[in-house]
Amino acid sequence: MDRFLIAGGEPLVGEVVVSGAKNASLPILCASLLTGETLQVSNVPRLRDVSTTVKLLRQMGVQIEHAGESVTLSAHSVERLEAPYDLVKTMRASILVLGPLLARFGEARVSLPGGCGIGARPVDQHIKGLQAMGAAIQIEQGYIIARAKRLKGARIVTDMVTVTGTENLMMAAVLADGETVLENAAREPEIVDLAEVLVAMGARIRGAGTDRIVIEGVARLGGAKHRVMPDRIETGTFLCAVAATGGDVTLRGARASTLDAVIEKLLEAGAGIESADDWVRVRVPRTSGQGRLRPVNIRTSEYPAFPTDMQAQFMALNCVAHGTSRVTETIFENRFMHVAELNRLGADIEIEGNTAIIKGADGLSGASVMATDLRASAGLVIGALIAQGETTIDRIYHLDRGYELMEKKLSALGARIRRVAGSGQS
Ligand code: EPZ
Repeated sequence: MDRFLIAGGEPLVGEVVVSGAKNASLPILCASLLTGETLQVSNVPRLRDVSTTVKLLRQMGVQIEHAGESVTLSAHSVERLEAPYDLVKTMRASILVLGPLLARFGEARVSLPGGCGIGARPVDQHIKGLQAMGAAIQIEQGYIIARAKRLKGARIVTDMVTVTGTENLMMAAVLADGETVLENAAREPEIVDLAEVLVAMGARIRGAGTDRIVIEGVARLGGAKHRVMPDRIETGTFLCAVAATGGDVTLRGARASTLDAVIEKLLEAGAGIESADDWVRVRVPRTSGQGRLRPVNIRTSEYPAFPTDMQAQFMALNCVAHGTSRVTETIFENRFMHVAELNRLGADIEIEGNTAIIKGADGLSGASVMATDLRASAGLVIGALIAQGETTIDRIYHLDRGYELMEKKLSALGARIRRVAGSGQS
């Protein structure tokens, strides 16, 4: 398994281009199933989760040309209406084929996503919504078996705000008979991006980005061209890295308006941030040792509040702030696996229920640590960039799921980081 070797303590300076958003790309690629015509998607990041989605769709019979950041998909002859366990277990977002398969073909056999490090992450709300639209759904041997002659519009109130639940139900509704209203819908920018593609394909959607989305079903959808929005979590991750090490970096292509809560917290911590439509610049003077910042309390919540996907990265920043801070995780039940690893780097973090209490240390020092999930590994990279001395981060395949060329982008900013190809189990 590959690992990173990082010699920390360097400021980050220069420019970096933000990649397309992983969490917009995945549902948009699945939306290709909704039409027999061609969907051309650009600015798709080079990530493991993207190649897994392409592999899954190809297995179903979708014709796909995947070159660099462009993906062209034509689902005119889909034979296999199934998402098998061996693929779903590597990427839970495979569940996003369920809504489109039911909407266009009237049947689907999708493996239940297994457990995940950060939480149980059930998909009961996806199933409840599809049943409300008339789908007959059984669970057999770990698979969701779903059938529907033609889905019919319904008013659906999910028990909690669910991002992929909202995306699945929105995609199911675009070809349903009649009007669907999604109450308590997720408001993430990735949902707005998906709705833009669906509307370009001929769907009738109002309210994407609010907690009430109204979809008027149509008989069929056509092809479209779309450029994926910039990744707001990659942007936030780099902003936190620069704030933690001190430096001056401009993120090209970034969309500050999708990161208000994160930028607000970075300003509160004492970082200098400027932005325009398609760039964000972060500057933190190098004071004694690290860029000494103020401790900032964080409470994760649904968009537009502080995103759970930025919790580990901001915690790393708090590890060397001038005082004590509290980070409360309200979305997932086990998203503190990076705490023990950060403590190995010399952080002083205690967990009380779903809150971590971080006492700011004067600095961190290099050690061997292990990545456990995608965003935890991003937090460890930031910890390692702060630490004096060398840090080894094992199992960075977690990181490769959601960050394109992380080590190349950081090296270009002056970080001393390199990837060591691992062999077998580490
Ligand atoms: C999406 O996951 C993102 N993934 C996650 O990003 C992100 O952390 C999460 O939203 C929250 O923002 C993609 O978009 C591919 P949820 P999702 O359904 O849709 C519970 C990353 O790092 N729930 O909004 O799976 C669930 O257990 C990944 O890129 C149910 O109980 O998250 C959780 O506690 C990690 N039943 C809460 O709701 C359901 O049917 C929010 O989950 C659905 C969800």
